[in-house]
Amino acid sequence: AALPRVTYSNIAEDFSGVHAHFGKVIADVRGRQLDLERPNHVGGRDSTEGAAYDAPCPIDRRLSLGTFFAAAPRQVDSAVAAARAAQRGWRDLGWPRRVALARAAADLLEARKFEAAAACLLEVGKSRMEALGEVEEAIDLIRFYAGEMEANDGFRRDLARANPREETFDVLRPYGVFAVIAPFNFPVALSLGMSICALLAGNTVVFKPSPMAGLTGRLLTDCLVEAGLPAGVFNLICGGAETGAALAAHSGIDGIAFTGSHAVGMRMLREFGCGGRHARPVLAEMGGKNPTYVAASADLDTAVSGVLRSAFGLQGQKCSAGSVVFLHETLADPFLDRLAAAADALVVGDPCERESFMGPLISEAALERFETSRMQAKSAGGTVHGGERLTGGLYDHGAYVRPAIVTGLPDDHALHRDELFMPFLTVRTFSDLGNAIARGNAVPYGLTAGVYTGEPAELEEFLETAEAGVLYANRASGATTGAWPGIQTFCGWKGSGTGSKGGLGTWYLPQFMREQSHTIM
Ligand code: ALA
Repeated sequence: AALPRVTYSNIAEDFSGVHAHFGKVIADVRGRQLDLERPNHVGGRDSTEGAAYDAPCPIDRRLSLGTFFAAAPRQVDSAVAAARAAQRGWRDLGWPRRVALARAAADLLEARKFEAAAACLLEVGKSRMEALGEVEEAIDLIRFYAGEMEANDGFRRDLARANPREETFDVLRPYGVFAVIAPFNFPVALSLGMSICALLAGNTVVFKPSPMAGLTGRLLTDCLVEAGLPAGVFNLICGGAETGAALAAHSGIDGIAFTGSHAVGMRMLREFGCGGRHARPVLAEMGGKNPTYVAASADLDTAVSGVLRSAFGLQGQKCSAGSVVFLHETLADPFLDRLAAAADALVVGDPCERESFMGPLISEAALERFETSRMQAKSAGGTVHGGERLTGGLYDHGAYVRPAIVTGLPDDHALHRDELFMPFLTVRTFSDLGNAIARGNAVPYGLTAGVYTGEPAELEEFLETAEAGVLYANRASGATTGAWPGIQTFCGWKGSGTGSKGGLGTWYLPQFMREQSHTIM
């Protein structure tokens, strides 16, 4: 019998059949698929050109995920040239065929779902359920956008006629070649969400995964190639910031889909979006500092569970993570007692193991930022619950920390405002919800926000005034996280994304195309 699907709304459930099977696949991938050479894929061919580098496994840095090849400007040129050469043929293939190929890729990924989730778990240090949830999300993303293409008839519409002898219609056309630049934290879902839209629209793609996530980058490339995408339509190049900068600055690129930090996204908008002879599309998803408000009328059990999951799931390394919680002053003490007890009970350890809720931070650099933030909190007079670095055994071979809950910081402290991307929750209190929402809005981001309240008027106030693209109320499975394709749009406001269409929502796909009007007499 088929094993049940893992989604973000059922992620906390106990799927023993899933665990038994997944445990075997993790052991197999760990035993047989690490430490191999993982070539780039350019113009339909594998390529080991570029500087070879080994990516350490964050769970145990003594293990290598594999050998990858950082594309230098010459290899970036080749990938862009291959994408350019393939673009006209790909466009002319027509959208129904592109939809069929995308659906075939989704089927192949579904067939390799446990293997992809194991690769994701090993390279990101994601818990079992988060890794499976992500791969299910990626499959749904492909099918969702394929469905959008069908529902909109390939985005071609007859328009009104000004003259009975004239035909007029409107058609959305691809731009040409898209660069897709993806982060480490959702290496399957975000990479595929961006890539599949570019491809369905008729663009060809040069894809650069995070240097930490080449294993899944290669696996999803294999699914697309095996599905039958013609040579040059989807090209994989690995590498770090230098490769990304060479790709983003390349004159042969017509658009960029990027997910990552605010600083890098803004640079792309300035330098690529406005730096050429004409404006070019940069679809950027750039993080968040997402508030959760817990009103006096909230159900405390639900709020504690939601805040915990949202702040510390995937070690807080989510753009959607609930990283600051506003507590009504009357419930702050009982809430914090329960939250601290629940955080203390979270298992931090090897994500290959079923009971681990939190794995390691992605890198030593992330650990350093975590320790610095902890020190900054203390020197500003804050109290940090948890936040210790763990040592001994496996802990000595990765960046394992206990989740941190920080109280007593000055209200204007930067730790309440800056995106940290780590399991570091800051706490603020309030007496008036409207005032708290205004304080939560006063950050440069606007991705997600959550509320816990039993009062319809408070819920209404939140929905009407919170400045974020994705709002959640009274959710036990994650206060500000867990958007799912076709269910929640994912649209960053302000510094979180490029306008109300940013992210992975219903309006996302058309942004990979430009409009053309045809009038024929
Ligand atoms: N879909 C993921 C979330 O909303 C990014 O947390």
